[in-house]
Amino acid sequence: MLVTTKEMFEKAYNGKYAIGAFNVNNMEIIQGITEAASELKSPVILQVSKGAREYANHTYLVKLVEAAVKLYPDIPIALHLDHGDSFELCKSCIDGGFTSVMIDKSSASFEENVEVTKKVVEYAHAHGVVVEAELGTLAGIEDEVKVEEGKQSYTDPNMVEEFVTKTKCDSLAIAIGTSHGAYKFKPGTKPQLRFDILEEVSKRIPGFPIVLHGASSVPQEFVKMVNEYGGNMPDAIGVPEDQLRHAAELSVCKINIDSDIRLAMTGNIRKYFAEHPDHFDPRQYLKPARAAVKAMVAHKIKDVLGSDNKI
Ligand code: G3H
Ligand code: 13P
Ligand code: ZN
Repeated sequence: MLVTTKEMFEKAYNGKYAIGAFNVNNMEIIQGITEAASELKSPVILQVSKGAREYANHTYLVKLVEAAVKLYPDIPIALHLDHGDSFELCKSCIDGGFTSVMIDKSSASFEENVEVTKKVVEYAHAHGVVVEAELGTLAGIEDEVKVEEGKQSYTDPNMVEEFVTKTKCDSLAIAIGTSHGAYKFKPGTKPQLRFDILEEVSKRIPGFPIVLHGASSVPQEFVKMVNEYGGNMPDAIGVPEDQLRHAAELSVCKINIDSDIRLAMTGNIRKYFAEHPDHFDPRQYLKPARAAVKAMVAHKIKDVLGSDNKI
């Protein structure tokens, strides 16, 4: 059975660790993530964006996730909608078997954010589904919404209590300096998350699970691999893993990772193509890509999130 994130977050908050929320788009990604989670006895969140749903089809993704649940009945797996942008999209995922949805109205006014989030929460809770909301905006691309660098806004701790009380959401994504994608910080600058904001938020809503988006660390081994084998990703920089570890020890219960999966697969597929120009069977190059996703996720679980041996 798929589970919600309720119990996962309670345990993570009290145990000072975080649950990895990994974006899934196809079978190999789901396999890599769940094989790692199963071997390490870690709860895991598989999340689907609007774009992933358009790419792979809702039913395919739900059925692939159900296959993972069947293969690994011992580990708690939640199926989550990432960056839902409307009540209708959230409703469709709630009706279609998801156990958690995000409604992201962070780019709208506070009032509109409250109004839409509240509506999603009422529908979700009536159907046993939990809701993540967002206050503050991250730079980078969230599906169709592109927030220009410099236009992002950190979460205002003064707003969180009112927001959470009014909407009754179950977790809250906040903006403390992370951003989506592989170019999170300017080269030559020191990446630094705003832990002062995180701590201030937690003081206002003690015990409430916080979510960190844009939390890929952009491992330089994959960037190097991409660039060495014909790619062009200069100055790709992510969030330092020690800062993610620190966030997990505080009130952050969910850490979102997508770009690192993309890099692991792309780096390894580029390498494979370069080394085997005569191969043309997709299984041949998807195999090392899947293995790289598994190894990367295992590293995150053990060394960054701390969610291993928690079931
Ligand atoms: O937050 C964005 C995630 O990385 C999903 O990206 O909308 O391209 O699937 P996507
Ligand atoms: P990254 O681009 O840092 O992997 O962030 C993913 C994310 O926040 C998905 O919602
Ligand atoms: Zn995100």
